[in-house]
Amino acid sequence: MHIRVRGAGHDYEGLSYVSEVPFVIVDLINLRTINVDVNDKSAWVEAGSTIGELYYRIAEKSKTLGFPAGVCPTVGVGGHFSGGGYGVMLRKYGLAADNIVDARLIDANGRILDRASMGEDLFWAIRGGGGNTFGLVLAWKIKLVDVPEIVTVFTLDKTLEQNATKLVHKWQYVAPRFHEDLFIRILVSRLNSSNQGDGNSQQTIVASFNSIFLGGIDRLLPIMQENFLN
Ligand SMILES: Cc1cc2nc3c(=O)[nH]c(=O)nc-3n(C[C@H](O)[C@H](O)[C@H](O)COP(=O)(O)OP(=O)(O)OC[C@H]3O[C@@H](n4cnc5c(N)ncnc54)[C@H](O)[C@@H]3O)c2cc1C
Ligand SMILES: *[C@@H]1O[C@H](CO)[C@@H](O)[C@H](O)[C@H]1NC(C)=O
Ligand SMILES: *[C@@H]1O[C@H](CO)[C@@H](O)[C@H](O)[C@H]1NC(C)=O
Repeated sequence: MHIRVRGAGHDYEGLSYVSEVPFVIVDLINLRTINVDVNDKSAWVEAGSTIGELYYRIAEKSKTLGFPAGVCPTVGVGGHFSGGGYGVMLRKYGLAADNIVDARLIDANGRILDRASMGEDLFWAIRGGGGNTFGLVLAWKIKLVDVPEIVTVFTLDKTLEQNATKLVHKWQYVAPRFHEDLFIRILVSRLNSSNQGDGNSQQTIVASFNSIFLGGIDRLLPIMQENFLN
């Protein structure tokens, strides 16, 4: 029988709960304890937790600590950290996997290992090699990162008619050079815009510039002016 480990079940291909051969599911739904240590700037997170639960537990204890992982709160730390895990703080702090400092893992022989007993090769592999591959992660120890108490968040929509193409082109050249506190991604989608006069709708494309800045608007505005006006 194959073993499928289920974190929060967000795998796009359903790898944590489907199989073409007989299988059993090891569901981590009850492994959700999160212990945040503010003084050590670290946390132990059990593998059935979601990233939303993790962010919430950190925020309960500190307004100036965070963790650089994904956007959707229902994504599980089991699969997410195993595969890397990127989010809005990646320019400054890298992936979730870059900020893992220890783990508890059950190997195929049922031994429970930590970083010291699994060795650096296996510890490297479980941080990016993909879930359900090298063993079953029970918990991660993560390093928390410094964040300002107040951040600036904005989303700006531009349609083709509003010169979206020009802005996307410009963004490709400036975005990699922004200050590391600034993250701007683009979501491109279809939009029905109403056609004045005949009441029919016409389709266009909208580019949403989806952003977070780790600081106040006083620092952000000069950065935006410098990068987008020139
Ligand atoms: C709505 C949505 C939003 C997303 N947003 C982002 C994002 O912003 N950034 C990003 O990087 N990714 C994002 N993802 C992708 C997401 O990170 C991956 O799908 C991730 O693998 C999900 O982890 P999970 O525990 O929820 O999924 P699961 O389906 O439970 O697991 C995924 C894989 O990991 C294995 N696995 C799970 N837990 C363990 C464990 N403890 N030990 C060993 N193997 C395990 C499973 O067997 C499976 O193969 C998103 C996905 C969705 C559906
Ligand atoms: C789009 O760009 C053109 C050419 O630079 C300019 O004339 C026009 O005003 C722009 N349109 C908008 C909506 O900004
Ligand atoms: C957009 O227009 C298409 C074609 O007219 C229609 O099928 C679709 O439902 C519309 N979508 C929205 C969100 O209004």
